[in-house]
Amino acid sequence: MRKAIFPGSFDPLTNGHLDVIRRSLPLFDEIVISVLNNPDKAPMFSVEERCEMIREIIPSLGGNGCEISVASFSGLTAHFAREMEATAIVRGIRAVSDYEYELRMALMNRKLEPEIETVFFMAGEPFSYVSSTLMKQVFLLGGRVDGLIPELVEAKMRAKLPDR
Ligand code: PNS
Repeated sequence: MRKAIFPGSFDPLTNGHLDVIRRSLPLFDEIVISVLNNPDKAPMFSVEERCEMIREIIPSLGGNGCEISVASFSGLTAHFAREMEATAIVRGIRAVSDYEYELRMALMNRKLEPEIETVFFMAGEPFSYVSSTLMKQVFLLGGRVDGLIPELVEAKMRAKLPDR
């Protein structure tokens, strides 16, 4: 049983995240999209809203033989991965600039849980500049983000901020 978690803030889920999930499906039997509950950050969407949106979007991924689920967690990613009995942590890399941060996290997570391996997927080129932070910023300032976030996410952003 090859089980992985894909941790992140997912505030909100972008098409870049979906690209990474799609790439990871053939390698695992089960993947748990793991939404971090971070009380230090003021998110656009609550953890519950983020989980619900991801759950609604999952069927569009097909699964490719891999079971996809969603969970929220607090605390350390490495501990959550162990709790879930996952053997891998999935992360996406968009550009070289992601590498240093991701390397530090992967090594720290390995120190915490030596049996759990971080597996990186290179995001597709069309998503190399897509981040949740950038999507929120552009949306809030009236720019177009279609094609970069799922339509459902865009609709929820519009509903949250009708007169942006
Ligand atoms: O995609 P994101 O939002 O940058 O995800 C970052 C995330 C959630 C993977 C990272 O912040 C994290 O793992 N936070 C949980 C706390 C933790 O484990 N910190 C130590 C990481 S080495």
